[in-house]
Amino acid sequence: MCGIFGYVGTRDDAAQVVLAGLKKLEYRGYDSWGIAARQNGSALARLLVEKHTGKIGQATTSLPGGPSALGHTRWATHGGVTEANAHPHLDCQGRLAVIHNGIIENHTELRRELVAAGHTFTSQTDTEVVCHLMEDELRGSDSEEAIERSHGATVRSHEATRPSETGCERLIQALMRVFHRLDGLSAISVLDPQEQCIAAAKNGSPLVLGWGTDGNYLASDSSALLEHTRKLTFLEDGQAALIGTDFVKVYDAASGQPQAEVRIWDITWQEEVDSLHYMTKEINEQPLVLRRLAAERAGDAQQLADAIQQASTVHFVGCGSAANAARCGEYLFSRIASRQANCVVGSEFGYLADFLDARSLVVGLSQSGETIDLLESMKSARRRGAALAALVNVEGSSLYRLVDHSILLSAGPERCVLATKSFTAKLGVLLMAAYAAQGRLAEGQALLERAATEIQSFLSDGRVEQIRALAARIASSEHLYVIGRGPSYPMALEAALKIKEVSYIHAEGFAGGELKHGVIALVEPGTPCVVLAPNDETFYSILSGAEEIKARGGYIIGISPTPSDVWDEHIQVADVGEAASIVNAVPPQILAYELALHRGLDPDKPRNLAKSVTVK
Ligand code: F6R
Repeated sequence: MCGIFGYVGTRDDAAQVVLAGLKKLEYRGYDSWGIAARQNGSALARLLVEKHTGKIGQATTSLPGGPSALGHTRWATHGGVTEANAHPHLDCQGRLAVIHNGIIENHTELRRELVAAGHTFTSQTDTEVVCHLMEDELRGSDSEEAIERSHGATVRSHEATRPSETGCERLIQALMRVFHRLDGLSAISVLDPQEQCIAAAKNGSPLVLGWGTDGNYLASDSSALLEHTRKLTFLEDGQAALIGTDFVKVYDAASGQPQAEVRIWDITWQEEVDSLHYMTKEINEQPLVLRRLAAERAGDAQQLADAIQQASTVHFVGCGSAANAARCGEYLFSRIASRQANCVVGSEFGYLADFLDARSLVVGLSQSGETIDLLESMKSARRRGAALAALVNVEGSSLYRLVDHSILLSAGPERCVLATKSFTAKLGVLLMAAYAAQGRLAEGQALLERAATEIQSFLSDGRVEQIRALAARIASSEHLYVIGRGPSYPMALEAALKIKEVSYIHAEGFAGGELKHGVIALVEPGTPCVVLAPNDETFYSILSGAEEIKARGGYIIGISPTPSDVWDEHIQVADVGEAASIVNAVPPQILAYELALHRGLDPDKPRNLAKSVTVK
């Protein structure tokens, strides 16, 4: 949550570079944004700051040219959505700009101490304590510098063209000392315009360094850096970094020592082209992604299947949509491979994991690979000796690096806050792995390819238009329910999640069999109810549930290969056997998108959400 982007280099349009970077990170939070830049041309380097509430969207910046800048797009945690609370924040003298992603748990005590020492706060954020702590730390080292000067050392440069290595070193050492005083999980970056460098430190929240040819970069997410460089260093927890025009240094934040070896990754991800809405673009990419998985990830699926077969207990863990994919995996493994796997949501797994041991396998599912609840679960499983695997989309992410065996979803950057292609990609890998566990990998691959072809037809033969018309009809509904049985139960949860998070219609998914146990009390005349009815053993039972809803006036939307009188609206999908969940994921995604448009909402950036949930 929150996006960070920084640049130091030879370009003289740093603020523009940072603005463009923030636009790519906006999915991480869009309550407010801001940039601090070093002004060019003045003998005394000055810091200029611009802040706004609301989304960046197509915003431009009025900041003038300069060689370094740091920006932030905020998902509010401490303090309301105001300009004053937007990052960057400055120290009392306006000398340093600080941005932050995460939560400083002991900010109240630190603030009290700093106020008592005479510092003036201008925001309600937890972040601002870092500015004032840095100010104090640097005041200490400035006086050391004054002593050096009086012994004839070079005067510390405030000139635009002569950044000082010593000054940068002082900055990073100060930041590491400050970082030790902070409780909680954070990524912090500090721009010192006089020294022409950015210092950063991380614990928990992600931070990636980009080695450019025209300077160096840092960002919360690799996808924002790819247009500048594919040479990336992923900071680990407990590391700090310093970037300048022609250097990138990584430190161990505990000892303050530079790391002798810094791993540089060469990232292969392709940058995708922008479109009107990422959501529809990403929905439409699904056939391509699924085919790519069938072609390129079968070997990985077999390895996952082997690891699952060898483990004593297997746990699929994820959050939100990833938890729904995990739950679907539970059904797929039971049905196809007769193998039991538990599904647990990331934020709960830690409370249920006491029994894990070296024979357990924990499989984390995540698009971003940065979801903190998942990462903490995985780390606690590791402490108990469990083997770890992951289905993850972002190459080099924290999850990718943490586990013993990572399977890349190869879905390319997913920018819409809603998971669509990354969700079906997870199902695709799980489907192949379930078949592989039975020695039937080729069958799984072929089925996945078939699902891709059927989705392709669905997206191009008029059924999208049918859903658009349906959305127009039900867009003013207050409530919407989705039911499914067996593997369609998690799909009902996922369909309801998609619809509610983007259209703000209250939508709930239920196991079809639970209807009579209370849920049916919610149905009123005209209430839209989506019924997932693949041609499997659940068909007749779910049809009975649909009849019961219809008898109470519900408006029945059947997603099924099979026509029935009970459907008021029939969205026909292909019968693809055990791949039904993958194909059935798509119509609700389109319905969610169309509902958002009908209700005048931005499908890519629903309110209150952020793509990568890096705070607890
Ligand atoms: C819903 C959605 C979220 C994410 C969840 C986990 O559309 O996108 O529920 O699935 O926040 O995110 P990742 O997969 O990045 O761990």
